[in-house]
Amino acid sequence: MSLDFPLDRTAAPVPGAERRAILADPGFGRWFTDHMAVAAWDAEHGWHDGGVRPLAPFTLHPGAAVFHYGQEVFEGLKAYRHADGGVWLFRPGDNARRFARSARRLALPELPEAAFVRAVEELVRADAAWVPEADGGAGGEATTPGPAPSTSGLSVSDPSAPDSSASGSGEQSLYLRPFLIATESFLGVRPSAEALFRVIASPAGPYFPSGVTGVTLWVTETYSRAAIGGTGAAKCGGNYAGSLAAQTEARENGCEQVLYLDSAGRGTIEESGTMNLCLVTRDGELLTPALGTILEGVTRDTVLALAPELGLRPVERTISLAELRAGAEDGTVTEVFAAGTAAVLTPVTGFKGAGHAFTVGDGTPGPTTLALRRTVLDLQYGRTEDRHGWLHRV
Ligand code: COI
Repeated sequence: MSLDFPLDRTAAPVPGAERRAILADPGFGRWFTDHMAVAAWDAEHGWHDGGVRPLAPFTLHPGAAVFHYGQEVFEGLKAYRHADGGVWLFRPGDNARRFARSARRLALPELPEAAFVRAVEELVRADAAWVPEADGGAGGEATTPGPAPSTSGLSVSDPSAPDSSASGSGEQSLYLRPFLIATESFLGVRPSAEALFRVIASPAGPYFPSGVTGVTLWVTETYSRAAIGGTGAAKCGGNYAGSLAAQTEARENGCEQVLYLDSAGRGTIEESGTMNLCLVTRDGELLTPALGTILEGVTRDTVLALAPELGLRPVERTISLAELRAGAEDGTVTEVFAAGTAAVLTPVTGFKGAGHAFTVGDGTPGPTTLALRRTVLDLQYGRTEDRHGWLHRV
């Protein structure tokens, strides 16, 4: 039976003037739209009760498995407003497939790909007025007026990090956050027989305040992110919870983010926790760590596919920190950048860590990074032809 997401039109939308003010400078993850997509699963009935409802808090039994054993997965993707006013998703099928892979790893039910994409589409349609222009202009008028009180539009997260003043950055979008949580109330350790799926949406500017000027990564030797056979390749909340202490360590050392090394002590680079890492070499390679314990990023895959268009050879292999450092110091590694949905392409201009600190190139964003970033953004905002079939009209 196919899962539908009919719209409940009772949401009281955030007033237009307030919404426009938010869209002019949304930061990252601070504001939420008028609706959320929902569906439920249980072992007896499978997927059911799909819909797009007013955004509102919901209650769970304190015994729900997600509170105790962290059985949860999520996704991140964006809706972009093109110059003709149309709204497009970028590679949503890839997020849907990764969501299902993550769910399998966390012993959660797999949502069919078509239902995932449909839920996202219906939410974006309902909240189309929240999709900003690329430069932060308001997207349109709310279409679903109604009487019910709403918690949408409220800023509910720490406004100090990592959001930014993004007005006029040219990369505003509507960030979509699908997630799936285990809700059965049972304290034994086994897969939950009940789960809830939600998609919420948040207008977004650049993830990093320093954005295109570049970030410095902290090479942590205290923490690792994932082990072989663990959950490193899954997008599950636990991976991010485990990264927070390392991120605090990075901030205390003046860095924006962390670079994780492999957990077996081989000294190979993995990812940054919120982004994949890519190196540009003097002889024209776009190098990135091979899959296994890292997240299979959609932006990572996008830049690997686009690399030949910029005259680069994409290479996925094991890379050691020693190789990265030696390359940065002797000039064979000319640029480093991080890639992720939220962060797009962010230049990495330097590294710090116990006993070492080194700069990449002259410490400013490199031309290849900026060209690739422009290529990705031009595609996402429909400014260049989509030869790969990645855009999906809502
Ligand atoms: C994303 O890029 O979508 C992420 O998941 C990173 C983060 C904000 C958790």
